[in-house]
Amino acid sequence: MSSIKTISAAQAASYINNGDAVGFSGFTPAGSPKAIPTAIAHRAEELHAQNQEFKIGIYTGASTGDSLDGALARANAILFRTPYQSNKDLRNALNRGDAPYFDMHLSHLAQELRYGFLPRLKFAVIEVADYNENGEVVLTTGVGISPTIAGLAEYVILEHNTTHPAALRGFHDIYEPADPPARREIPVYKPSDRIGSPILKIDPKKILGVVECSQPDEVGGFTPTDQVTEQIGANVALFLAGEIKAGRIPKEFLPIQSGVGNIANAVLGSLGANPDIPPFEMFTEVIQDAVIDLMYEGNVKFASGCSLTVSNEILTKIYSDLEFFRSRIVLRPQEISNNPELARRMGLITINTALEADIFGNVNSTHVLGQKMMNGIGGSGDFTRNAYISIFTTPSTAKGGKISSFVPMVSHLDHSEHSVKVMITEHGIADLRGKSPIQRATAIIENCVDAEYKQILYDYLKLTNGAHTPQSLKSAFEMHRLFAETGSMK
Ligand code: COA
Repeated sequence: MSSIKTISAAQAASYINNGDAVGFSGFTPAGSPKAIPTAIAHRAEELHAQNQEFKIGIYTGASTGDSLDGALARANAILFRTPYQSNKDLRNALNRGDAPYFDMHLSHLAQELRYGFLPRLKFAVIEVADYNENGEVVLTTGVGISPTIAGLAEYVILEHNTTHPAALRGFHDIYEPADPPARREIPVYKPSDRIGSPILKIDPKKILGVVECSQPDEVGGFTPTDQVTEQIGANVALFLAGEIKAGRIPKEFLPIQSGVGNIANAVLGSLGANPDIPPFEMFTEVIQDAVIDLMYEGNVKFASGCSLTVSNEILTKIYSDLEFFRSRIVLRPQEISNNPELARRMGLITINTALEADIFGNVNSTHVLGQKMMNGIGGSGDFTRNAYISIFTTPSTAKGGKISSFVPMVSHLDHSEHSVKVMITEHGIADLRGKSPIQRATAIIENCVDAEYKQILYDYLKLTNGAHTPQSLKSAFEMHRLFAETGSMK
């Protein structure tokens, strides 16, 4: 019998005051609390109706569900928010300037909290599948920054989610590295290595109570694959198969990191379908639906991630077959799942999606037309910079062809030409390794750019002579300007 008292979500919310910084468990909607943030949003609305200030600072693993980011954004209750997000209402609020947002590499957040670089945490709200009076908790589908916020916060509130079985114990590997100068190597040498604890230990004296909740994870579905995403996936598989044949990737293959979103989901499906790609392991951040299908087919042997961000249909399948997945999945804190040391050691093949790229190989993953935040950099920087080989995929155009994904100069830079090794679209593959800026531009225009934009970009290259990188200071953003003024880059 637990001595941790059961409280209502409204009671939990009543402990939290204007200006408090609150850390939430989870990573993506997986493992992110639902009842307590909804109650905090109601508290904000009530206080605002009485003309009282109420806004909280929010730390999470990455994006969350609508009952956290959506509810708090709609209640205008956000003092600050970091890191990655993908909720429509939060996106609108932060782009309006109503929710101050700072984007961070996901592997940095936990350590920057510990280093004291960010406002101090008052509360941690942690979703659990099970707990006991000693403060030992079993996390649910996402780990995120839970170990760090549970350690740093003055107070902890648990949200016990009964849709997740206590038998999830054993899926997690909870480990926090020491801070410099005491940090040592992180002893993970292959994706399946376990170095930590299956449970998170929280000081029971800090736990204010537990809120019961039975809402499932709020993971959105994927748009079905189409010809473009399937062709991108087929091209990624073709490229990797060629690398194995050429001896540049060992024949037993290397662990795959795959990004988030529709395109990433489609790419994984294609890797599984290509007979020249051997069954592989994943060392990644988000384990999406496609991974689970590939595990059943035997094409993915093991997946290390930070969250099981799968549709409820797939999660039900996993929970009815837990023993099959127990030896095939491990969930880690994002400080470990996205760790640069581990990415470099294991030689990850990283596959992430660009929103926009320039012909010289610089990538924008976050800002639409350089101004509006889409989601955030997520883990793409953690992985890309430290990959064995870093691949970016993107459809060659967006918005029905009115936007070319390839422009002379990216309108915002997330990944520089030094980190981006291969660019792939539905049209083909540009291998940028060992090429000068002009050679990279030629490879990208020839192989990746849509036919409608090829000549425009070739003409751009001729504007400037005698430069290592032939950028035209006058015309670099001409395509963006044209789109803003006419609704098309053509
Ligand atoms: N300019 C303007 N809008 C663009 C665009 C461009 N160059 N390229 C794409 N878009 C729009 C699309 O039209 C689409 O808009 P819609 O939702 O209104 O239809 C939207 O951006 C998303 O594009 P989609 O093609 O569906 O891609 P996706 O779901 O695969 O997501 C990213 C792509 C880049 C937004 C997503 O991968 C992301 O947030 N990446 C950054 C974080 C990351 O890489 N994490 C992985 C680390 S593990």
